[in-house]
Amino acid sequence: MRLDKFLAEAGLGSRSEVKKWLKDKQITVNGEVETSPKRQVISTDQIFAAQKPLKLKGLVYYLLYKPQNVITATKDQSQRTVLDLIKPSDYVKDLAPVGRLDKDTTGLLLLTNDGQLAHDLLAPKKHVAKTYWAKISGVMTKADADAFLHPLTLKNGEVTKPAHLEILAADEKEAYSEVLITITEGKYHQVKRMVASRGKKVVALKRIKMGALTLDPTLKPGEYRPLTESEIAKLKGR
Ligand code: URA
Repeated sequence: MRLDKFLAEAGLGSRSEVKKWLKDKQITVNGEVETSPKRQVISTDQIFAAQKPLKLKGLVYYLLYKPQNVITATKDQSQRTVLDLIKPSDYVKDLAPVGRLDKDTTGLLLLTNDGQLAHDLLAPKKHVAKTYWAKISGVMTKADADAFLHPLTLKNGEVTKPAHLEILAADEKEAYSEVLITITEGKYHQVKRMVASRGKKVVALKRIKMGALTLDPTLKPGEYRPLTESEIAKLKGR
């Protein structure tokens, strides 16, 4: 493998950042300074950046508790993205969020560089279930729960697949409710629009489950941890 590819995959950054490391004579291969990006390296070579040993990280899977006011993107000119929450030492090339949560939505977000798994989890045919806790302005009723069980027509005419609505609390006097909503697709603002189609408004939204994954109660908003081997196996359906 070319040295510049190795350095990018080991987490040193973009092509131009890697070039800078090389130009600044910060990279050594087997104890010798190396400045050529084209140098071929093999698995037994000892490669260091600023005296720190580098290893290829391979596939990584992080379970992030997405906080509010961070966008689900890999890069943005002006706003903080979920990738800004990842420590440089945990960063790997092609790390990306699987699916999208709105800027004001919190909760479980999977980040990985495993493109195949990301593709499988998002494939419409796979019907991976996602469960959201929501606080609603307005009282959700049994009629709403029944309507969710059937295709629901959104205000723009789009039709959703059957979903599940569980009412956790409803307060007639204060006109608010707390619910769990499970959907198996990922239309734009889907939960908010489904609730709006019933004449009510989502005022707080948190994803608590995605397929075999559950939001880790030990994580605080903005924190993440690697998935366990058993979580990875379950996600991959093994
Ligand atoms: N549905 C929404 O409306 N927003 C989200 O962030 C996720 C699902």
